This record gives sequence, structure tokens and C-alpha cells, in this order.
Amino acid sequence: MTTTRGLRNREKPITMLTAYDALTARLVDAAEIDLILVGDSMATTVLGYDDTLPVTLDEAVSHTAAVVRGTDDALVVADMPFLSVGVDDSETVRNAGRMLQEAGADAVKLESGPHTVEITDRLTQLGIPVMAHLGLTPQHVNQLGGYTRQGTTTEAAEEILSLARDHEEAGAFALVLEHVPANVAAEITDALEIPTIGIGAGPDCDGQVLVSSDVMGLTEDQPPFAEQFGDVAAAMSESIDSYREAVESGAFPADEHSHVEESVDDLTD
Ligand code: KIV
Ligand code: NA
Repeated sequence: MTTTRGLRNREKPITMLTAYDALTARLVDAAEIDLILVGDSMATTVLGYDDTLPVTLDEAVSHTAAVVRGTDDALVVADMPFLSVGVDDSETVRNAGRMLQEAGADAVKLESGPHTVEITDRLTQLGIPVMAHLGLTPQHVNQLGGYTRQGTTTEAAEEILSLARDHEEAGAFALVLEHVPANVAAEITDALEIPTIGIGAGPDCDGQVLVSSDVMGLTEDQPPFAEQFGDVAAAMSESIDSYREAVESGAFPADEHSHVEESVDDLTD
């Protein structure tokens, strides 16, 4: 069983992958991945949206609950959707609370910034473990103008480091660093006690996270820092083609898939 405390000072790098359904969660969990993130990347991967903004809290709760049902050992982290955090403090607490109370997640992840330091402290005090997320925060795509690398000047990198310290101080149990220079991620990792989990942040973070559909080869557009480790799309297409051909040729269903009940009389007699 992975616990938030057990992530510190480990010998091997921490592994995290996204999942959005029980079926995938079962496979990820069986592969002994440490953490499963029910990312708001569900928007672009399984829900067909262009960016992550349209995902609702209800959708995220539903997918998180499905992942929890498929998971025995991994720590399940529910990503908080756009505007479910930060509009109002008590609403934020209730929204994050649903992820644990209703969906059964172990922790939540917030896209972090200066506005999430206090709420991270509050949630942590209430018993809701918080994973912070700095660097590229895709819910800000409309200000960023694209999914560009962050922390590319000394000043910008210092800002990320300072926010990382603030969130550690506020009680975050881990920090996702997305799309920042490897040397910046390495320095932030050194400066913190809590583990960093990188995505497009070089090899020196305490762990790595990727979107499972990128890893498995299910997504057409992958970010430059992703890596495809398999071709599940090809395997799916092949099985779907084979099914269609079998039905069209009459090969399916075969005798072993069918049952004739002799005791039923001819109905039209
Ligand atoms: O939503 C997501 O998949 C994420 C990871 C890329 C960290 O936030
Ligand atoms: Na996300």
C-alpha cells in the first residue's frame, strides 16, 4: 500500500500514471505503480475536449470513484477541476472533501499558485492530503497562450521555487513539477523535503508522472516530453476490425457461442 508518508526518502523513483476508469486503474495498480492520478487530463484523453477547462466536479468525482473501485494498493489522487478550487474557501473545502468522502480518493491535487497556499494549509489541517502542482499549469492555458515550458528565466524559476517552499510549508505532501527545465527541477527537488514528481522536468525529480494514454499509445497528439511505451491503439483497432469481419462473414457467433433449446416448441406451429 502506498501512503503519503511512505513516499519520502525512497530508494527507487516514485511512479505515477493517470487513469480515468476502473479497467485501466486495475492494470496500473497490478503493475505496482505507486500513485494513480485521476487527472483533469480526462478532458482531452477520454472526454474529447480540446483543453482541460470543461471538466466538471461531478465528472471528476464520478471518474475518481471508478478508479478507486479498480484500485487496491496505489494511492489515488483526485485532480481538482478548473474553478473547483479558489472561487471561495468553504466551497473549495467542500469540493475537495467530495473527492475523499464521496469518491474514496486518498488525496487531491490542486494546480497551485500564490492563491493556493492558504487553502493547502486549510485542507491539510482538515485531513485532506494535498499534492501541489507548479510549472506549467494547463488550467491557465488562456493566459499562457499555449503549453509552453515555464521557469525559463532566473526570476521565473525563483518564483516557482518560492511557491514550492510555500506549499511545502502549508503541508503539501508532494509536488508535481510540469514542463520546467531539468536544472530548475533538480534545484527545487534539492531544496524541498517533500518529494517532487516531474513531467517534462528532467531526471532528477523524486518521481515521474505521465498520462497513461500517452504511455500506452492511445493519444494522437502527445506533448514533446511524453514517451509512448506501447501501441494499444493498434491492438484495439485490430480487435475491432476482426470482430466486424467475423460478424460480416458469419464466422461469429459460432456454435460455442450459441445454445439451441430443444424443449422450446416451434413457435409458429
Ligand atoms: O491532469 C493530468 O494528467 C496532470 C498530470 C499531467 C500531472 O495534471
Ligand atoms: Na491536471
